Amino acid sequence: MQILRMDGGTRIQGEARIESAKNAALPILAACVMTDEPVTLLGIPDIADVENMLAILRSIGCDVERDGSSITVRAQGDLYDSVPPHLAETLRSSLFLAGPLLARTGSVAFGMPGGCEIGLRPIDLHERGLRALGATLEEDDGIVRCTGKNLKGADIHLDYPSVGATENIMMAAALTPGKTVIHNAAREPEIVDLARFLNACGARVAGAGKQMIAIQGVKKLHGATYRPIPDRIVAGTLLAAAAITGGELRLTNAPVGDMIAQIAKLRDMGCDIRDGVGTLTLRAPKRLRSFGQLQTLPHPGFPTDMQAPMFALASVADGVSLVLETIFENRYAHASDLVKMGADVILNDRMAVVRGVQRLHGARVKARDLRAGAALVIAGLAAEGVTEIEQIGQIDRGYEKIEIMLSRLGARIKRADE
Ligand code: EPZ
Repeated sequence: MQILRMDGGTRIQGEARIESAKNAALPILAACVMTDEPVTLLGIPDIADVENMLAILRSIGCDVERDGSSITVRAQGDLYDSVPPHLAETLRSSLFLAGPLLARTGSVAFGMPGGCEIGLRPIDLHERGLRALGATLEEDDGIVRCTGKNLKGADIHLDYPSVGATENIMMAAALTPGKTVIHNAAREPEIVDLARFLNACGARVAGAGKQMIAIQGVKKLHGATYRPIPDRIVAGTLLAAAAITGGELRLTNAPVGDMIAQIAKLRDMGCDIRDGVGTLTLRAPKRLRSFGQLQTLPHPGFPTDMQAPMFALASVADGVSLVLETIFENRYAHASDLVKMGADVILNDRMAVVRGVQRLHGARVKARDLRAGAALVIAGLAAEGVTEIEQIGQIDRGYEKIEIMLSRLGARIKRADE
């Protein structure tokens, strides 16, 4: 078993460059099956979720090559129209293939992506959107078979601005004759990036980033070379690491414009943050003060993926912090392990009250989901003594060699086999 072993107390300082975002790359990789011409994506991190998506693309007949951080996908010839269940289980984002494969082949089968650690994560909004385009969906024994030979553009209203549902519908509609309008669409930066990629391949998508997105279907998409946007959550995680250790960090290739809510909260905690074009410099105070209250919301509200890292900061900030997680029903998996490290927390359903303590102490803890794992790494950087983190495969899903990234910035952290 691999663990991360950390010895807290050093300041995070130096400079780091941010690579392309996991949550932009995953739907864009799925969209590669919508053209039979080669697509090359640049700056793609070597993380487990991307590797699993590449395995899924290969399993349906795509030719996939990785050359460093560049990936080329060739989806030529006939593609299989079903994602193998054992692969669909490894990656919820296999659901992103529904829209693209439906548009490309007229049929798709995928395993009901189970819930995961952070919630049930139903797919009703995806299904309703694809049905509105004229697809039929049947579920049998956990497999959803979706067919649609004569799809037609439609007006679709999402009851909730789901990121994945917006992306799936946008991709399906891009090759569906007629005009599709998505109302109450998600506005995350990754939605804008997917639209930009689709348009680079010849699609006609307008309004991404706003609540109403209009897609005029086209007959065919061509290949492209594309660099997805930098990862605002990796960037925020590194800022949090510097903030909790009284450090000083400069980020380059940072998506500053997509991080306004995060920057505001870190400033509330006493961090001095200077932003430039694609750069962010954070100087942390000796001791953070509470951010008061934090509520996760759809973009441009505070991002749910940064809730756990900010929770770790709150656990040692001066004062009492209130956290309200409104997006997922079970996203406090990090709380129990932080308490084991000395945090003072009251949890009640989606609400958490965190009273800052002077210092956490090291402990043996578990990464119970991707961002919970990130929160424990952040806490371990500042904790007194040694912290050992199990289940670090969760962290590897979204952070490339996190121990190398942080060691370069002054952390005492190692990956160890047990
Ligand atoms: C994307 O997940 C991200 N994943 C998540 O990042 C992120 O936390 C989430 O958006 C919110 O920003 C990727 O982009 C690969 P949603 P997604 O559909 O698309 C409910 C990470 O840590 N819902 O916006 O699954 C759902 O249960 C991951 O990098 C329905 O009810 O998020 C949840 O409560 C975690 N029915 C809420 O909407 C549906 O059909 C938001 O989910 C779909 C969603």
